[in-house]
Parts: sequence; structure tokens; C-alpha cells
Amino acid sequence: MKIYHNQSLKPYNTFGIAARCRQLIEIENEQEVPLLFEQKIFDSSYLIIGGGSNMLFTQDFDGTVICFRTKGIKKVAETEEHVWIEVAAGEEWADFVSFCIKNQYYGVENLVGIPGLVGSCPVQNIGAYSVEVKDVINQVYGYRIPTGEPFVLHHDDCQFAYRHSIFKSTLKGKCLISRVQFQLSKKEHYTITYQGLIEELKTRNCAITLANVSDAILTVRNRKLPDISKIGSAGSFFQNPVIEESQYEDLKVKFPQLITFPQNEGKVKLAAGQLIELSGMKGVREGDVGVYPNQALVIVNYGNATGKEVQIFYQKVQKKVAEMFGITIVPEVNIY
Ligand code: EPU
Repeated sequence: MKIYHNQSLKPYNTFGIAARCRQLIEIENEQEVPLLFEQKIFDSSYLIIGGGSNMLFTQDFDGTVICFRTKGIKKVAETEEHVWIEVAAGEEWADFVSFCIKNQYYGVENLVGIPGLVGSCPVQNIGAYSVEVKDVINQVYGYRIPTGEPFVLHHDDCQFAYRHSIFKSTLKGKCLISRVQFQLSKKEHYTITYQGLIEELKTRNCAITLANVSDAILTVRNRKLPDISKIGSAGSFFQNPVIEESQYEDLKVKFPQLITFPQNEGKVKLAAGQLIELSGMKGVREGDVGVYPNQALVIVNYGNATGKEVQIFYQKVQKKVAEMFGITIVPEVNIY
């Protein structure tokens, strides 16, 4: 394991916020995990991060930041139809998706281009283009805090929902995720329901293959989302709000253009990006913080914005949306 003191977190978060932490530990091998418990790291403040692609530091962190840098993508079982792959928490999500595409395993191709590490993917149940990672997660492995006892949670016990899991509720801060086991399909199978993807594939007039679908997804993504290697951001900053149908019926009278996504009975999901756009905040920039001009759900750091500046700005966006629609949009990004 590698240990750093008074470490800048700027290279550890895609927002590019220059906060610091007292200590940072990089776990390079799963066998090192018991040492964290023996050294009583969890007796004072700690924070477990993956690729730092879904967080905003609004202040320095007076504690230990723990990052998994473990590697390994291993086939553990196989039938004619399916394959089960176990992946170390520290693997880049992008490398796992490439592995699946190369081996003709179906299920994660729509999730291509999402930044971050495999260990984080179950936490907020990452999703894009009509697929959520819960659709392919079989089991999650890790260690309980503070006991260090290993655990295995089956898919059905993870309480997956839109941008949600047990790791964001009852197990928040109470476990380390060390590996994820995925169940993928060996039989040709695609999810082509997102309108933008259908149109992109039609324009290309190409054969439907894993490589072509993932390539089309990347084109659709890049049209709307910033390249985090050039502009600091954490992807969608807010969750799409789910409201009562009765509230939607009232809103519809004044805003008939509102886009909705199907939900369980009695509820309606709206597009936060559209609400922000209608509130007049799309493309607005204040100093080095702004709402991304191509996708209003994304807040960007154009240079040297501080976490506090981003916080003041996102609260302004929330206020504008609340004033216009009476809806409080909630960050999907973790805020410290
Ligand atoms: N819209 C606007 N203005 C905008 C942005 C969006 O009117 O500035 C409208 C669009 O026209 C569209 C609707 O809102 O009709 C939905 O937009 P989009 O398809 O771009 O998706 P989203 O709901 O804004 C979600 C995910 C994204 C994911 C896309 C594609 C959340 C919080 N975000 O965004 O995930 O890539 O769907 O499936 O659910 C992420 O989580 O970081 C992320 C990028």
C-alpha cells in the first residue's frame, strides 16, 4: 500500500478541486485490507473514494482518504448463455467495458465512457442509455467497518434503484467494496431504446455489433457531456426528480412541454436538465463555475473554481428551479 500525508486531492477528483486530506492510502492488493483494520484507520475520520468522478470537496478533509488501486478481471463461471466475471474494485470501469466488448460479452456496452472505478459502480447504480449496472451485477464483495468481517451481498440484497443502493443508505460508510461479480450474456443481445442512440445508428447505417453500438454511444455521449480530461466535472450533478403524479398534473398546465420518464404508479420522473434549462441557467457561468452549455444537468469547473464556489453556484441552480417549478433537485454527486 502507498501512504501519503497532507495530500492534495486535485488528482483524485474529476471536478479538479484542490482540497487536501491529512492522509491518503492507496490499497494496491486486497490482502492489504486487514492492515487498515489492524492499524485502526477506521477509528477516526475516513473516506473511501473510487475514481473521484462523483464527488465535490467543499473543504479540506481532516482524515484518511482510502483509494482502491487493486487490479484483476477474472472469469469465474460460464454456461452456454452466460459468463460470470469478477472484477477488482480498483479496475477502471472503462477497462472492464473494453474487456467485455473484446470478448463478445453483452450487457455493459451502453455504459461505455462512464468515468470511475468498478468498486464504485454499485454504490450509485451507474446508468446511461436505458441500462443500469444493476442489470448485470450478480454479487458485491467487501469488508464490514469497523469489524473487518468479509461480506458477500447478492444482487437482491443490494436494494438497487435509480441512482441508489444499500451502499448509499444503511451501509453508507460502513463497508469497503473490494470486488464486484457481473453476470453477462454470451448470446447476442442489445438495448437500443434510447432515441438518440436509435438515430445515431440509423445515420451510420452500420451492422449492429458490440463495437458499433458502443462507438455510437460514445458519439452520443460526447455531443452532450464534457471531456473530463479537459474540463472538470462530475457528470450529471443532479438526479432527475421523481414527483407525485398530482404535482405533475398541476405543472403540466403551465409547462406542457415537460418531458417525463415512466415510473411506478402514482409517480412521475422529470428531466432535471430540462428544468434547469427552462429556469434560464443553462450555459450560465460565474467565474470558473458554470452549467455546461450542451447538457444543463452538468456543472463544470472551467479552471480553478473552489469547492465552495461550486457549492454556492449549485445552490443557486437549485433555487432557480425551485422558484419556477416548486421542485427541489437533489445532487447525485457526493458532497464533503
Ligand atoms: N434536456 C434538456 N436540456 C438539457 C438537458 C436535457 O431539455 O440541457 C432534456 C433532453 O432533451 C431529454 C431529457 O432532458 O429529453 C433527458 O436528457 P438526456 O437524455 O440527456 O438524459 P438525462 O436524464 O439528462 C441521464 C443520466 C446521464 C445519462 C443520460 C443518458 C441522470 C442523473 N443522468 O441524463 O448520466 O448519461 O441519462 O442515459 O440520470 C451521470 O449520471 O453522470 C450521467 C451523465
